Amino acid sequence: MSRQILVTSALPYANGPIHLGHLVEYIQTDIWVRFQKLRGNECWYVCADDAHGTPIMLKARELGLTPEALIERIGKEHQRDFAGFGIGFDNYYTTHSEENRHFAELIYTRLRDGGWIERQTITQAYDEREGMFLPDRYIKGTCPRCGADDQYGDNCEACGASYSPDELKNPVSVVSGQTPVQKESEHYFFRLQDFEPMLREWAASEGLQDEVSNKLQEWFEAGLRAWDISRDAPYFGFEIPDAPGKYFYVWLDAPIGYMASFKDLCNRIGLDFDAYWGADSKAELYHFIGKDIVYFHALFWPAMLKGAGFRTPTRVCAHGFLTVDGQKMSKSRGTFIMADTYLRHLNPEYLRYYFAGKLGAGVHDLDLNLDDFTQRVNAELVGKLVNIASRCAGFIHKHFDGQLGERLDSPELFRHFSASAETLGGFYEGRAYARVIRDVMALADEANQYIDEQKPWVGIKDPEQQDEVLAVCTTGINLFRVLMLYLKPVLPNICAEAESFLNTPPMQWQDASQPLLSHAINPYKPLATRVDPAAIQAMLEDSKETLVAT
Ligand code: MSP
Ligand code: ZN
Repeated sequence: MSRQILVTSALPYANGPIHLGHLVEYIQTDIWVRFQKLRGNECWYVCADDAHGTPIMLKARELGLTPEALIERIGKEHQRDFAGFGIGFDNYYTTHSEENRHFAELIYTRLRDGGWIERQTITQAYDEREGMFLPDRYIKGTCPRCGADDQYGDNCEACGASYSPDELKNPVSVVSGQTPVQKESEHYFFRLQDFEPMLREWAASEGLQDEVSNKLQEWFEAGLRAWDISRDAPYFGFEIPDAPGKYFYVWLDAPIGYMASFKDLCNRIGLDFDAYWGADSKAELYHFIGKDIVYFHALFWPAMLKGAGFRTPTRVCAHGFLTVDGQKMSKSRGTFIMADTYLRHLNPEYLRYYFAGKLGAGVHDLDLNLDDFTQRVNAELVGKLVNIASRCAGFIHKHFDGQLGERLDSPELFRHFSASAETLGGFYEGRAYARVIRDVMALADEANQYIDEQKPWVGIKDPEQQDEVLAVCTTGINLFRVLMLYLKPVLPNICAEAESFLNTPPMQWQDASQPLLSHAINPYKPLATRVDPAAIQAMLEDSKETLVAT
């Protein structure tokens, strides 16, 4: 029976471009989704731009645009970049949509009617010139502990102290440069603590990563508190229905954006929304996120869903952060690489391959080491995998009219390759992509070794051996085909080209068990070429320039 699975990646903020760090997540998710589809499951992958909040409002103002115009422009750029990396969303939407307003209001109203919304008056920094309350990162001043200047309102980059913005000395508003005053305002809070029993149960549910379960335990021990879900005008977002001048905090409507994007998909293609989101849904719901936003997805979000009568997620899959050459991405070193800069210099499938080779189910950070990247793509993808096809295809075309033979020389070897389907499928399912890559490359070594031993280039000179050479090359091509199929979730474009070389319809997972025999293939064109280190250098240079320009 085929599973019904809804998958999301976190919604990128609509105030800046996609960079290689983001792509860890979208590539990780896309591989998983492509695997599920390849398996024949019903799987939908939705995402959206996260369009609300103060930074977007201020960024638009700085650029002399309306927030609507800014999010429209950035939304297009994001979609272009994602398409460039083969991220196959079934729907890409925005949180600034009527569907999202509908669900945000619905969830809020149900939580309020359930008695889980309370009001509290709080005191906050206020910029009188701008007429706005200031989030912590819009206040700068002198660190109360070490005296360093120009530190943000919540923590000091010089000494690492955390504090509250009213402890900062000589505070100024980043927006106007004025000294903020303290001002009271009534806020709306979601009573997270009322959901502790349900959250404890959820935390114990099967499939949460250890790191995430441990975090949850720490949060329980620290005690759950009500969560401030409102912000005062001016704010770019949705106004709270029964509270004029008050807006939903961006993190309230952001995850609801998963539902809204899916709803838009349902409207377009006629899916049943409730089958996926209803309280008794049998479908699976997976959220792929970075480790920095576990709090929102593993605490607030399930509690909100539960309180509002929707299903809770099957799993939250958190990943680590990207470093480049062992360090945080850096603008001055040119390692803060934007998606579109990469695309100007290198093949997107190489990054997908490289990330896959480093990704596991854990929350560890992963490093993009550019020398290692070049080395692995050249040695493995080009040198081992694609090489199998190029070594055999020439003989088939030159001597056998482009026609595969009617038998394999080594059915045992083919069966050995086919037999990996189950293990590799398990690795994909468990997000252990590095193990997929490792095993596939070990098989590629076996295939190359087989060709080395059979020496078709010797046999072809002997008229008696023609039949044998055909069977050997037919075996080689079939081994290549199975390996390409195994990497299809990782390398969708290279695999599509391989399918056209093999002259087959798009492969499905179960095709691993049947060899292609007595079948015409197309002439071989190189499926992947080596990475030139000069392209890497040019990309780094280009990254320095892009940042000067912005
Ligand atoms: N808008 C929120 C998510 C809302 S989800 C309801 C947000 N946006 S983001 O643009 O900052 O990040 C989007 C995703 O990319 C997050 O899951 C984040 O963890 C991930 N990453 C951003 N930078 C990253 C790295 N350097 N490395 C790995 N993942 C990174 O958070
Ligand atoms: Zn300090």
